[in-house]
Amino acid sequence: MANNWEKPSLEQIEKFEGKDVLSAPQFSKAELDVIMNVAAYYEQALLEKRILKDMEGKVMASLFYEPSTRTRLSFETAMLRLGGTVITVAESPTNQTSSTAKGETMHDGITVIDGYADVIVIRSPQKGAADVAAQAAKHPIINAGDGAGQHPTQALLDIYTILKEKGTLQGLKVTLLGDLKFGRTVHSLVDFLAIYGCELVLVSPEELKMPEEITKSLRDRGVKVEETSDLKKALSTSDVLYVTRIQRERFTDPAVYEKVKDAFIVDEEMISGCKKGMIILHPLPRVNEISVGVDKYEGAKYFEQAYNGLYVRMALLALTTGSVVLFRPHRKTVG
Ligand code: CP
Repeated sequence: MANNWEKPSLEQIEKFEGKDVLSAPQFSKAELDVIMNVAAYYEQALLEKRILKDMEGKVMASLFYEPSTRTRLSFETAMLRLGGTVITVAESPTNQTSSTAKGETMHDGITVIDGYADVIVIRSPQKGAADVAAQAAKHPIINAGDGAGQHPTQALLDIYTILKEKGTLQGLKVTLLGDLKFGRTVHSLVDFLAIYGCELVLVSPEELKMPEEITKSLRDRGVKVEETSDLKKALSTSDVLYVTRIQRERFTDPAVYEKVKDAFIVDEEMISGCKKGMIILHPLPRVNEISVGVDKYEGAKYFEQAYNGLYVRMALLALTTGSVVLFRPHRKTVG
């Protein structure tokens, strides 16, 4: 990707300025192409060890009301690599450090933070929280995961990784495994896979099936969707296996979690008959759904996938704040 990107036009770039990133369906194929190309440009810039100043003087507010390692730290690294600065709230419902603990509403909190920052990245356990934030803020809001809703920036980096590893998505068969009911990453990803013309195979415990409204919407769009419990057979013809964690935190009944948590384990035996060249992705963190022995399989790309999040999030921050210096020769660049 880094050596293989096309420069979008200034007009294409400017369409992102001031826009929120809330959910996957908001993006067209043309917009995805722009994001992929700008991400690849930033990947190349970092590989060349360039010091970037695209977001110098700008502030990103990083508001995480639910645990995160990759999303928060890659967004914060992205902002710092672009020459900007970061202010952070990192808390959980049981460890609150902001005035949320005093009963401040999302609307009021965001209205205030919007006065400090040029872009706001937010993760919340509440589905729809980013939409509420977007109504309160004048600056761009980026959804970093809202409960069991959407995780669009994860899906964008997933697409970037597949493009990087396979060269194309057109016609690929992608098997999605695990928690397809509450898994916000797959809820966002399937929209993009549909845009790129992929065929989908869904494998999950019965209790965690993909919501019917999503599978119906995919089929209505002409996407071939197969639901099966025969993972081994699915892997024999799949180009991509996308594994998700069974999320203990989404269950109200611990007994149901215990029943389904080990339903599918991807181990060396399970992938022994997989299609040649199949890649394995996982948004991480993993618990035990991919055994550590699989890490040495050459198609295991989940750690590279996490690294790719940095480039994609640099692209999103720079695009939404109108900061992609490369495409703005009329702006003074520093350094
Ligand atoms: N993939 C992902 O969202 O990871 P974190 O929860 O660590 O941010």
